[in-house]
Amino acid sequence: MLKIIWVFGIFFVCTWAVHITKLATEVTVVDTELLPNEHLNLKGTKKLSKSNIEHIILKNCSGVIDGTSLKHFPKLHKLTIWRSDIRSISTIFPINNLISVGSRLPNLDEQLQRKLPKLQTLFLIGNKDFEVDPYVFRKFKSLVALYISEANFTETCITKEWFKDMGQLEELSLSDNNLDCISEDAFNNLKVLRKLDLTYNKFTTLDKKVFKKLTKLENLGIYNNNIEDFDINFLDSQRKHLEGLGISWSMLSNLDAESFLKLLPKLKWVSFGHEEMPNDFQAGVFCQILRQHSVNCITDSVFGVSKILGYSL
Ligand SMILES: *[C@@H]1O[C@H](CO)[C@@H](O)[C@H](O)[C@H]1NC(C)=O
Ligand SMILES: *[C@@H]1O[C@H](CO)[C@@H](O)[C@H](O)[C@H]1NC(C)=O
Repeated sequence: MLKIIWVFGIFFVCTWAVHITKLATEVTVVDTELLPNEHLNLKGTKKLSKSNIEHIILKNCSGVIDGTSLKHFPKLHKLTIWRSDIRSISTIFPINNLISVGSRLPNLDEQLQRKLPKLQTLFLIGNKDFEVDPYVFRKFKSLVALYISEANFTETCITKEWFKDMGQLEELSLSDNNLDCISEDAFNNLKVLRKLDLTYNKFTTLDKKVFKKLTKLENLGIYNNNIEDFDINFLDSQRKHLEGLGISWSMLSNLDAESFLKLLPKLKWVSFGHEEMPNDFQAGVFCQILRQHSVNCITDSVFGVSKILGYSL
């Protein structure tokens, strides 16, 4: 009897394993042209059941996404476009996650927004000749994470209008977009924001109230801007929650480490950017004192993600 159960068990495990391979939920499509009114051709992946696919990765593909292209993928909720050339998206496309890196794709405007009504995460890094109308952000009502880098913004001063009705946004990265100013109330609607990346832009000043309403912020990146006269006390509102800070050494060099630690008691790490640590005796001393309080000076991979990926155009 035991033997039978054992054999049956093996059989069950084997068929289960077969099922797992059949249930692959992700497929990568390479060097393929998406033609109008044609189903996406999954060459060489016949064994995959289209009905289980949740994530399609287009690599070096081109063409159009219309009502026919992806209609046989009922569970599809994530699309990654990698170094591809997508000329148009002409159908309502109810995916939750869109990632596009180093590609050509339609500009982010109202027309594109209407095609993507269910997005929760939008990740647009290093796309070519890519224009962004920031007034459409707020129309993505379900957006939780928004990352845009190396885009051509139609306006370069961040205002509150951009993020109206985005009360559920938790992560915002606007790194490396030539943005040059921020109104003092710009982030006031982002009540649950946990991460804010403003690195690699052209900000020269920050208003002392700009982070004040961000009561959940854990990671803030502002290095690689031209901010002078930064008063660290502007971060006073962050004392109960800020854990990671990306800031240029020049913005801290007039400050002693003890007062810095006192200002931000929840801090776990500080990053001065992606380059090596500043070759500056003072910075070394500063970081040593931080370390004695279990705060590390690190080279982070949290901010300026497009710089790490190396998609600078
Ligand atoms: C991308 O696809 C095109 C056409 O399908 C092909 O000619 C080219 O070699 C591919 N490039 C790379 C880098 O794979
Ligand atoms: C950005 O957009 C503006 C307005 O459409 C255009 O004049 C400019 O050439 C664009 N710049 C880049 C780098 O694409």
